Amino acid sequence: NEEKRAYGQLVNGVKQLAEEKFQALIEKVAAANQKQKTADIDLTLPPSNSPLGAIHPLTATRQRIIEIFERIGFNLSEGPEIEDDWHNFSALNFPENHPAREMQDTFFIEKNPDIALRTHTSSVQVRVMENQKPPIRTLSPGRVYRNEAISARAHCIFHQVEGLYVDENVGFADLKNTLYHFAKEMFGKETKIRFRPSFFPFTEPSAEVDIFFNGRWIEWGGCGMVNEKVLVACGVDTKKYSGFAFGMGLERTLMVKYGITDMHDIVEGDVRFTQSFGVGKK
Ligand code: PHE
Repeated sequence: NEEKRAYGQLVNGVKQLAEEKFQALIEKVAAANQKQKTADIDLTLPPSNSPLGAIHPLTATRQRIIEIFERIGFNLSEGPEIEDDWHNFSALNFPENHPAREMQDTFFIEKNPDIALRTHTSSVQVRVMENQKPPIRTLSPGRVYRNEAISARAHCIFHQVEGLYVDENVGFADLKNTLYHFAKEMFGKETKIRFRPSFFPFTEPSAEVDIFFNGRWIEWGGCGMVNEKVLVACGVDTKKYSGFAFGMGLERTLMVKYGITDMHDIVEGDVRFTQSFGVGKK
């Protein structure tokens, strides 16, 4: 009992000492933090920009094409990149032994001659006509594949944009005016285009479209009135309806518009190329 008091004082002393030390330590750490903060942050420095990505010019061009056709009433449709013979060839009136079906042009899947990587977006026309009643106004952008030698002007993977218009009383003049309108919107008011008679199994008559740009004519796409055989194969009433179709290369459109001479720049994904079109800009 006698020792209780002295002992209590002793313990209290230790407690106080510990508290003082603890408090001093807290203050020391806080002071050190404060010092470090003021040393590290210089609020007068200009901010450094973090690098931004850029929209790929192909994506931007695709978007621009869609916008132009959207405003004249075209909707968007897509189809599979792995296609069957019917949608890629047969329904489009390719004869049984047409050279385009042969191995050198088409990538077939696992030696099954019925399944291939689509060689053009015209396959989507077939799918749309099979599933929708006219009037049809649709745009089908997409990736296509051809077993071709890779060069500055060609690649085995590229992109096309297909257009299809089926309604009553559709004529070649409608086709011409639609493409003319598009060319002016895409390349500028003064743009000239010309139609050269051509052949596609799925259009009759057919034409190739050239565009006059930077002082010369450049091949740009194909078009024509949808062949009656194709309309019949897709279940469209040919007594009532006719239609036109066109297809253009997206890379080609981009090359024409920006004077790009080597296809590799477009497909290789070098960010310096992409950024040269403006960060985030269309
Ligand atoms: N599918 C054709 C091609 O790949 C282009 C085309 C589309 C031609 C529609 C006429 C009509 O070359």
